[in-house]
Amino acid sequence: MERTFLMLKPDAVQRGLVGEVIQRFEKKGFKLVGLKLIQVDRTLAEAHYAEHRGKGFFEPTVSYIMSSPVVAMVWQGKNVVALARELMGATNPANSNPGSIRGMYGMDISRNVIHGSDSVESAGREIGLYFKPEELVDYQKAGDEWLSE
Ligand code: TYD
Ligand code: MG
Repeated sequence: MERTFLMLKPDAVQRGLVGEVIQRFEKKGFKLVGLKLIQVDRTLAEAHYAEHRGKGFFEPTVSYIMSSPVVAMVWQGKNVVALARELMGATNPANSNPGSIRGMYGMDISRNVIHGSDSVESAGREIGLYFKPEELVDYQKAGDEWLSE
C-alpha cells in the first residue's frame, strides 16, 4: 500500500490548524501510520529541501521550517501521494483551488501550511529522513472494509 510524507509546517501549528488539516486526510479515508511533533534542525531542514539548494527561496524556506515545531506524519492509502497533493492544492496558495488546504488556509507561497511528497520516490526519501522504521505502525483500521471492495 502506498505511503506519503506530510508535514504541517510552523504556520499550521502556530495558527491552530493541526486538527482541521489532519481531519481532512482522516475523513478522506487515508490511514495515519506515523505522527510526531518535532523541532526541525538545520541538517534535517537542508536535507528535506536539498533539491532546491541554490534557489533564492532555499534559505528562507529552510529557516521557516526551523522556526517553530512541525507535525511530521506518514499517511497510507491507495494513490495517497498524488491524492494528498490534490487535497493540499498548488504550491502558491494564490493559485490553489479554493477548496484545497492551501487554498482555504494560506495566502502566501512562503507560508503555505503543509508539505507533501511529490512522488512515490520522494515519499520514500522523506519518510526515511523523518522516521525510523520502528516509528511507523501497521494496523487494521475499523471502517477499511467500507472504503473499497
Ligand atoms: P516546491 O517543492 O516547489 O513546492 P511544494 O511544497 O508544493 O512541493 O517548493 C518547496 C517549498 O518552497 C514551497 O512549499 C514553498 C517554498 N517556495 C517559496 O517560498 N517560493 C517559491 O517560489 C517556491 C517555488 C517555493
Ligand atoms: Mg516539493
